[in-house]
Amino acid sequence: MKLTVVGGGSTYTPELVDGFARLRDTLPVEELVLVDPAAERLELVGGLARRIFAKQGHGGRVVTTSDLDAGVADADAVLLQLRVGGQAAREQDETWPLECGCVGQETTGAGGLAKALRTVPVVLDIAERVRRTNPKAWIIDFTNPVGIVTRALLQEGHRAVGLCNVAIGLQRKFAARLGVAPAEVHLDHVGLNHLTWETGVRLGGPEGENVLPALLAEHGAAIAADLRLPPALLDRLGVVPSYYLRYYYTHDEVVREMRTKPSRAAEVAAMERELLEMYGDPSLDEKPALLAKRGGAFYSEAAVDLAAALLGGGGSPYQVVNAYNRGTLPFLPDDAVIEVQAAVGPQGAAPLPVAPVDPLYAGLMASVTTYEDLALDAALRGGRDRVFRALLAHPLVGQYAYADTLTDQLIAHNREHLAWA
Ligand code: G6P
Ligand code: MN
Repeated sequence: MKLTVVGGGSTYTPELVDGFARLRDTLPVEELVLVDPAAERLELVGGLARRIFAKQGHGGRVVTTSDLDAGVADADAVLLQLRVGGQAAREQDETWPLECGCVGQETTGAGGLAKALRTVPVVLDIAERVRRTNPKAWIIDFTNPVGIVTRALLQEGHRAVGLCNVAIGLQRKFAARLGVAPAEVHLDHVGLNHLTWETGVRLGGPEGENVLPALLAEHGAAIAADLRLPPALLDRLGVVPSYYLRYYYTHDEVVREMRTKPSRAAEVAAMERELLEMYGDPSLDEKPALLAKRGGAFYSEAAVDLAAALLGGGGSPYQVVNAYNRGTLPFLPDDAVIEVQAAVGPQGAAPLPVAPVDPLYAGLMASVTTYEDLALDAALRGGRDRVFRALLAHPLVGQYAYADTLTDQLIAHNREHLAWA
């Protein structure tokens, strides 16, 4: 089996390689190809990847290349984990929206739109190259904004599934609090990527007992603290929102905080320098603990599980993924991309039925779906007016004057990445 990681020079890659090594019975990778335009970084990451495989007795070959076409040729699955413009572009996304008093974040709000505009054309080009040599290859998209990017891929007829680690992160944390194995914990997870709520926590599977009320009664304050959400909010809602809901439910407070702190991009860039230095040390042969401070913790487990299910070798039968709605959430269009539990196998991902959704969450999902729709239109066809319409539709922007100013800012900061600007 050949598996290719585009954006393989990412500092996240050792997390993934560690997952491939540990879970090799579930997913027997013979050739792991890391593709990245940054050759120097790729060598550092590739070197550590080889040492991790060797240490764990994994017989697979690790290949590094900056040649995208060669890297994806005949791959069985291609994992996308790239950031167009890197942390530098992310830093911009996190900064200029603050001038309008709007949250500056890489996937939420105006910054997320900028990222979508930079990313969609690049990802579609990569997917086209994948399809050229293997039309059956699966594309697993971890590239943000996952909802919009996955929808772009599906719309173009690619065999794609979108992946995020928010659900697996919560599953692992809830399992620890409940004192059970992670596989025992099944989440009733509903929403759009980075806009989700856990409305139930079940033991043993989709039909298992819902222990969420007890979990909240006993650990609500700690769970809220972990998500940086007000504990009283969790109490009153009786569900667990993802930490991305912070940008909605405590928007102005987050903006105040962001104005006084260095950006996450700056923090991550510093961490990356440190990580790359560690990766260059030939005695390092495991993923360093520092990596756990990145947002992608447990991403490797989710990715291995998904690839294993799609490629037919195993994996969990139900996984939280991003896929077409197709009637699952009746208040959203069929071609909206939603993030829910799905039955996953060689045929792809089919969302499981979802219990009726509280209008409190359904309303926000519908409004963000409209934004995503307009964002994709802007990413595919370009133009100032399309950018403006997406921003005006976004519940965290909304006002005419802000949408107008943010449109100018977005274009000014991203000109080099936007073919039409
Ligand atoms: C979480 C999200 C990812 C995102 C990451 C950012 O894992 O699910 O979609 O890319 O956080 O993490 P970072 O360490 O770069 O801030
Ligand atoms: Mn994510």
